[in-house]
Amino acid sequence: MSNIAKIEKAALQDLSRAKTPAELENLRTKYLGRKSELSLFLRSLKDLPPEERAKSGRLANDLRGKLETEIEEKARQLKSEELARKIEQEKIDVTAPGRRVEHGHLHPLTIVRQEIEDIFRSMGFDIVEGPEVETEWYNFDALNVPADHPAREMQDTFWLKQSEEAQKDPRAHLLPRTHTSAVQVRYMEKHQPPFRIIVPGRCFRNEATDATHEMQFHQIEGLMVGKDVSLANMKGVMEYFFNKFFKDKIEVRFVSSYFPFTEPSVEVCIKGTKGKLKGRWLEVVPGGVVNQKVFKMAGYVPGEYQGFAFGMGVDRMAMLKYGIDDIRLFYSSDLRFLKQF
Ligand code: FA5
Repeated sequence: MSNIAKIEKAALQDLSRAKTPAELENLRTKYLGRKSELSLFLRSLKDLPPEERAKSGRLANDLRGKLETEIEEKARQLKSEELARKIEQEKIDVTAPGRRVEHGHLHPLTIVRQEIEDIFRSMGFDIVEGPEVETEWYNFDALNVPADHPAREMQDTFWLKQSEEAQKDPRAHLLPRTHTSAVQVRYMEKHQPPFRIIVPGRCFRNEATDATHEMQFHQIEGLMVGKDVSLANMKGVMEYFFNKFFKDKIEVRFVSSYFPFTEPSVEVCIKGTKGKLKGRWLEVVPGGVVNQKVFKMAGYVPGEYQGFAFGMGVDRMAMLKYGIDDIRLFYSSDLRFLKQF
């Protein structure tokens, strides 16, 4: 076999095996480069006798042209193979169903709190907030709760660890508030009547938990004060509220109760026509006429104003509304429960 034929055979064999553009480039150098066998052969032609020189020259040049064409062809082929592979790997099936993003929603206690706020707002009440960590003063003393009252004991109230000195001073001694009533005197120190406010917020008590008691729960304090605000106004407000909240015909009655910060004090009882409210009186909200001693603590002239206050349990309202029989469900983070709202 002639030299030219050998080069051709080897080159075509190598070309058919090339798999990448880089391999192909190496072959181009190997067979067509300046130091390739073919180039050396072409350069050696001048030493051949003239008749052979013409013949071998033509053969070598033909091979050169052929290999150039083959390499170009192979390069195109590798390129289109690579493109096809890329398309295959990166293909997107636009008809495949999408992955759904799960949307959360408000917690049932938030839903109920907002509903309660909306109804009171529609009656002209402002929404006010107070601190969750409160002084012993606003939580108890300013509300006429005596120093030896059982609510102030360790077993009913969480206290924050402080210096001995701070613990002796009710205005420095701190606790997670046990009720939203703590905001009453705080607010009245800075505002003059007439006003009507509600105070939603979290409260904390050192409770042994059960189906109706949690260590943390939510209240909405109500406080309406003016020249002649009376218990009759409270009855009207309560009737309007409960009819709207339960979307039911609700009857309201007061039975007497006791709180140091209201005089007289009442428990608001309601009876409806549906669900848990049907056919029996339920005590739902404590309240009463604001004690004049509380006004005095706020700096008002005793006898100048009168008003009513109440402390509604948000968790208990939600339980009644939705027929939930265990308060602990609200705090369990159990999605099977939460997804029902
Ligand atoms: C009070 O907290 C008074 N501050 C209410 C008040 C305000 C009276 C203004 C007069 C004037 P009481 O301790 O009853 O009262 O709590 C009020 C409501 O909070 C209860 O009716 C109940 O709905 C809710 N509550 C109290 N303790 C818990 C608890 N451990 N878990 C869940 N809810 C509770």
